[in-house]
Amino acid sequence: MSLWGGRFSEPSNEDLRALNDSIDFDHVLYAEDIEGSIVYARALADAGVIEQAEAATIIAGLRQVMQEFDDDRFEIQAGDEDIHTAVERRLTEIVGDVGGKLHTGRSRNDQVATDFRLWSIRAADNLAGEIRLLQTALVNMAEAHIETLMPGYTHLQPAQPISAAHWLLSFFWMLERDQDRLRSARARMAECPLGAGALAGNPFAIDRQQLAADLGFDHPSANSLDAVSDRDFVADLLYCISLCAIHLSRLAEDILLYSNPVFGFVALDDRYSTGSSLMPQKRNADPMELMRGKAGRVIGNLTGFLTTLKGLPSGYNKDLQEDKEALFDSLETMYRLLPVLTATISSLRINREAMAAALSSDLLATDLADYLVRKGLPFRQAHHTIGAIVRLADERGLDLPQLELALLQSVSSDFTEDVAQVFDFRQSVAQRRAFGGTAPAAIRQQIEQAREILA
Ligand code: ARG
Repeated sequence: MSLWGGRFSEPSNEDLRALNDSIDFDHVLYAEDIEGSIVYARALADAGVIEQAEAATIIAGLRQVMQEFDDDRFEIQAGDEDIHTAVERRLTEIVGDVGGKLHTGRSRNDQVATDFRLWSIRAADNLAGEIRLLQTALVNMAEAHIETLMPGYTHLQPAQPISAAHWLLSFFWMLERDQDRLRSARARMAECPLGAGALAGNPFAIDRQQLAADLGFDHPSANSLDAVSDRDFVADLLYCISLCAIHLSRLAEDILLYSNPVFGFVALDDRYSTGSSLMPQKRNADPMELMRGKAGRVIGNLTGFLTTLKGLPSGYNKDLQEDKEALFDSLETMYRLLPVLTATISSLRINREAMAAALSSDLLATDLADYLVRKGLPFRQAHHTIGAIVRLADERGLDLPQLELALLQSVSSDFTEDVAQVFDFRQSVAQRRAFGGTAPAAIRQQIEQAREILA
């Protein structure tokens, strides 16, 4: 029998139940649901609504239900509409009619909001842990490649030489912003809806401060009507996940490009490569393509859920039940992606020679302009002058270092013998030692900063 069958003369239709029931997916909230019920039973007794002995019986029964779930012995039955119904049904089987006192003053509306917040806090912590592992892999790999040079790109066109460590660490910082977002989302999750009732609040002398504290929340929610229908925390988390997935997809795209033989900068370990059923020579990076592809899926979950929330009338609406599958799916997707990307990075082979071979002298054109700046030319003028020299080299089919000094001097009298020193990739990189730059000295600082965060 359902929790609300009293006012109906006929049982609900089977198709309706298939649509309405959430037990198939919300059973994973059992621990949070039971923890919430245990503290609520205590609160009812403390408020004098039920006897302390009754609370003790209810709590013992709830612990038994918890054990059944933990041991995978809990049997879901036909009328178990959702996790809240299932737990209460089983509790009453175990402890008898006193089980029916647990729901006094409580609604599934404040109950589910509480369960899902608790669950989401834990999920945010788990996700942060997985992201940490990827960040650690990036820093470790970066540390081994401070002196490895590669072309840096803008518009995917060769731009300036950088250290491979700099490239890897750029993703560390994206992920650190994801961590920061998760932390701030988590802080907003930490308010306790329990005691909000269906919408109007709790009519018994429940101590909501105590309820919140007992469940590990920072404080109770301030407005019961808001509390039961607020799913901002789900949207927050879906957004955190989406942006993180976007970061993963960008790293994956770099790996896809750089592992293409045209670049040849990196090679994936056999364990993280895939092959072709037709072309025997192929080494594909399907997992990296899935990083890209699945970002679309989690963004879809975010967009879908925001659309669900839009324009809902005040108070709880069943639309909100859509919060769970969206978040479950997005998290599960991340738990699949993150370990694979972490292992891919840890086992990535970086081909120093191929990276060095891709360094063409035109990457030093900016350094050449800076050379003229150091001779006293305004940068804008130096930029123009070097532009003319690049065109000259182009016309003659020569690389910049092959241009005769006399020819350079015919364009600008500021060129002297020492211009030859500009054509040194290592020096170009070493000069960029201002904080946050690609010079080895700046990267060591960056790694130190990253290590402190990881510690
Ligand atoms: N399964 C429901 C959900 O996830 C629980 C709350 C149901 N509340 C109600 N008034 N029908 O939102």
